[in-house]
Amino acid sequence: MSTATVASSRIVDAYRRRTPTSAKLAAAAKNVFPDGVTHDARYLEPYGIYVQRAAGSRKWDVDDNEYVDYAGGHGALLLGHNPPEVVEAVQKQLHLGTHYGANHELEIRWGELVKKLVPCAERVRFTSSGTEATLLGMRLARAFTGKPKMLRFVGHFHGWHDHAAFGVGSHFDGTPTPGVVDGIAQNVVLVPAGDVEATRRALDEHKDIGMAIIEPTGSSWGHVPVAPSFLHELRRLTAERGVLLFFDEVITGFRCSPGGAQQALGIKPDLTTLAKILAGGLPGGALVGRQDIMDALNTTASAQAGREKIAHHGTYNANPLSAAAGVAMLELVANTDACERANRYAEQLRTEMNRVLADDGVNWVVYGTYSSFHIFTNPKGLSVTPEEIVAGKLDYHAIKGGVRKEVVMRLRQAMMLHGVEIFVWPGGPTSAVHTLADLEQTCEAFAGALKMLKEDGLIG
Ligand SMILES: Cc1ncc(COP(=O)(O)O)c(C=O)c1O
Repeated sequence: MSTATVASSRIVDAYRRRTPTSAKLAAAAKNVFPDGVTHDARYLEPYGIYVQRAAGSRKWDVDDNEYVDYAGGHGALLLGHNPPEVVEAVQKQLHLGTHYGANHELEIRWGELVKKLVPCAERVRFTSSGTEATLLGMRLARAFTGKPKMLRFVGHFHGWHDHAAFGVGSHFDGTPTPGVVDGIAQNVVLVPAGDVEATRRALDEHKDIGMAIIEPTGSSWGHVPVAPSFLHELRRLTAERGVLLFFDEVITGFRCSPGGAQQALGIKPDLTTLAKILAGGLPGGALVGRQDIMDALNTTASAQAGREKIAHHGTYNANPLSAAAGVAMLELVANTDACERANRYAEQLRTEMNRVLADDGVNWVVYGTYSSFHIFTNPKGLSVTPEEIVAGKLDYHAIKGGVRKEVVMRLRQAMMLHGVEIFVWPGGPTSAVHTLADLEQTCEAFAGALKMLKEDGLIG
């Protein structure tokens, strides 16, 4: 985007006036980090806010502006910022040591909670992130099935490693993104999610596909939803052919329900990845699944089966601080109605935001499932309801194609001018601690933001 466009926006002018300290920090960050950021999703023009503290459903930037927070720790904060039980557990552990370089009791409690909650989790292996967990799962699937290829779905995100880098936001033809070698891309078959025929065809044509991996509520936390009926069909098609079904529940795990999307949908995959809520807001991930597959990591079982054991390391796997936070968090997930509350809030929010759109005559759509909301800015003026989007009426290209980055960035900034931070989709995860006051403020902010976008000539 040209500097001229940024300079002529009233939203940007007001944003700059409100966030001078963030502007100074952003200038310093540009001399340290590529793009001035440490995660691509935090990139915003002319700059993003810098946050100094957070509590519950709120956070405050370095200029002391307060925001209702829908970044939600990238989805990790089902219970909002700093739930007292998690803080207490981490504080206690901090004094007992942060890394023993040895086994410890908390990791067992953590793993037992995962087993208790997640239906397919017969065995658990902790990692430090969701990316590491999907990487490990893909390797295990290849070793277990002896088949090199995997089926992936267009737009579905499984972290940033080589096997998952292309076909997410670009390279939908399956060609590798820069830095990924051809051999990896050639072993990935990409099909549109929701397309039963294309899926069946791919599985039948490529007999060397050993595993199919999917985000069970749709790509990017249901931004492009997949209908549950497709997942049931996928389970059937894979089971019939001896292909492993791999749910990436890094974001949906412990969120859609205490047992994740697989419990909510009543579908048992063979492998699952978890992260985010798993570690209570600290770094952590896990690969879980059928014991016979996970046994590829087991020395004795591998020797008995005459197989080479798969090695797995990771300095911070199940580190005591993440384990302490994870245990506290998963106990709350197991013993309270946290998932239900977050889901209920999101449903109310989606309804009320759609009411704002109707009142303002703007043909956008707010949709989502479980504790998510997504704002479809409808660049082609389609006539579509939230229910139709959730049912899978629009594919990846219909939902993401033609969306103007400038509209999305100005919407996010205009919301911030009204004290609400939404996530990059645009949309966000909701938490169990968002309140009715947050909901009212969000809807007022949305109405105010739409007015500003109209005044800036960004929507009609
Ligand atoms: C579905 C999904 N898979 C994998 C990842 C990668 O997890 P991490 O960021 O912990 O590496 C994410 C992160 O947003 C995700 O949403």
